[in-house]
Amino acid sequence: MLAVGRGGAGPATAGPHNARMTARHAASAPIALVGALHEELAALLAAMPDEQPVRAAGREFWLGHLEGHPVVAVLSRVGKVAAATTATVLLERFGVRAVLFTGVAGGLAPGVKVGDVVVATELLQHDLDASPLFPRYEVPLAGRSRFPADAAWAEALAQAAGEVLHDPAALVGAQAVRDFGLGAPRLHRGLIASGDRFVATAAESDALRRDLPDALAVEMEGAAVAQVCHDYGVPFAAVRTVSDRADDAAHTDFSRFVATVASHYSEAVLRAALRRWRPAC
Ligand code: ADE
Repeated sequence: MLAVGRGGAGPATAGPHNARMTARHAASAPIALVGALHEELAALLAAMPDEQPVRAAGREFWLGHLEGHPVVAVLSRVGKVAAATTATVLLERFGVRAVLFTGVAGGLAPGVKVGDVVVATELLQHDLDASPLFPRYEVPLAGRSRFPADAAWAEALAQAAGEVLHDPAALVGAQAVRDFGLGAPRLHRGLIASGDRFVATAAESDALRRDLPDALAVEMEGAAVAQVCHDYGVPFAAVRTVSDRADDAAHTDFSRFVATVASHYSEAVLRAALRRWRPAC
């Protein structure tokens, strides 16, 4: 019988005992800006004055500057494995000092509507279940199911989102505000659930609400990146615009929203957060 312990590894915070980790803490180390889809990152790339592509693991990593900070922007592609691979390359090859994930999510909690913004305080994989060996959702041998977002970066993203949500028409135009009902968008902070499924039926989102009553939104990458960053002891934070309600209409709402709104929100929120950010060293 396979021996399985609980909480075996604990937080695998790598100490600064190698050159890469020490370099990571320097203000010159880049901040990673990650999205899953081209549309989610397009406006951000256009705003980088000096971006240079570097190819690794079949992806283009765009090195440059945004709001005066060195950054590396990349499309993770969709799903937890693609996101984890991307995060690992960012940490190992580019020595990033923080990873910020942006994009869209399906709203789960009752008050989380299309056009609202969710900043993660913690993230969990809703499709991870190694029971009865481990409790449902727990990452085997990590001793936890929820990975916290970095509090300082989450605060910066929340402040930035609050600023941006003040005037959605300035970002996406009055027509899009009418079309998507973005009149009074709200900011939410809490649990984001990630899994390798696009949740597109009311039955599935009902089940998620029942099993994870505090989950605000669902997407397909965040918790995987949070876990990788936790293993490396590097700050991670995520901000998602709600594109759909993860119900029977999710697929049509999603496509229209991503094309018209998501990219502008991602750019505006990340830029505002970077403008506010002052490196500690
Ligand atoms: N991202 C945006 N909407 C989503 C949904 N309904 N399910 C999973 N990921 C999403």
